[in-house]
Amino acid sequence: MTESDGRERTARARACDVPTAGVKAYEEGAFAEFRDEVEQVWNENSAYWDDYMGEGNDFVNVLCWPVTEKLLAVEHGQSVLDIACGNGLTSRRLGRLGARVVAFDVAEGMIQRARRRTSAADGKIEYHVLDAGDEQGLRALGRANFDSALCNMALFDMAEIEPLFRNLFSLLKPGGCFVFSMVHPCFNQADATRYSEFEDRDGELITTYGVRVSRYMTPTMRRGLALQGQPTPQPYFHRPLDMLLNVGLRAGFVLNGIEERAFPATHPPGRRELGWGPNFSEIPPVIVFRMQRQ
Ligand SMILES: C[S@@+](CC[C@H](N)C(=O)[O-])C[C@H]1O[C@@H](n2cnc3c(N)ncnc32)[C@H](O)[C@@H]1O
Repeated sequence: MTESDGRERTARARACDVPTAGVKAYEEGAFAEFRDEVEQVWNENSAYWDDYMGEGNDFVNVLCWPVTEKLLAVEHGQSVLDIACGNGLTSRRLGRLGARVVAFDVAEGMIQRARRRTSAADGKIEYHVLDAGDEQGLRALGRANFDSALCNMALFDMAEIEPLFRNLFSLLKPGGCFVFSMVHPCFNQADATRYSEFEDRDGELITTYGVRVSRYMTPTMRRGLALQGQPTPQPYFHRPLDMLLNVGLRAGFVLNGIEERAFPATHPPGRRELGWGPNFSEIPPVIVFRMQRQ
């Protein structure tokens, strides 16, 4: 084993095995070995995802879309890149706002479903099968070609995000912005457990809902569910906020928008997504960022 092999293995072990609390050992490429699994799993899940998700669920409609739409502020005729578009749910919404949309996803099954769902009424949408880690494929989308880019609930599904941020800088026009919504890395990740506690406080019955976070600082890969009942659990890549945002800042973006989103206390209790609902109105499962190319 060479010295550099040793360093690589140590970095990977720190990133993926049981990590030492507080040690940030992530290096670019540390999760690269999971790229094929991501593609395979999302292909396996694409029919289930499309059948369940259709044109949107509460997670998208209540937590993500109102903010992403506002932060993107798409104008008629603008060109928008929809990254990891899944079944094209947001691509069609952008198309109906009058944008010219280029959308891509690593899973061919998703793109097939997206094409099947899309009609002339959805505007101008071009779909591609592409891995956001494929720098050559990203470059082929052109230079300064897009007014803005969206990645709705998918950066944490990507084994690598550095190639995407690096290439987005040249894909976007100067001043162009990148809006991305995420499962909140502080509260909605594998090592943040939701709980409810029931107590009799001097005759008053009180239930408290909360989140216990046992690990945050170290990037980790854990498999989990995006939708209850999906055929195969998918890899989730947890990155703490500073690590995540620094990838964008290093690529030349500035952060100029941020919103955290929780279901309101008035949200119908029966309509929950993976256990999130009105009982957790003080804890945001979603965070949305806007970064702008300088
Ligand atoms: C949770 S779904 C979200 C889909 C869509 N953005 C939406 O809002 O409905 C995550 C998507 O990310 C895609 N994905 C994961 N890694 C990717 C990568 N490296 N490049 C492109 N797409 C990727 C998956 O195939 C999947 O369609």
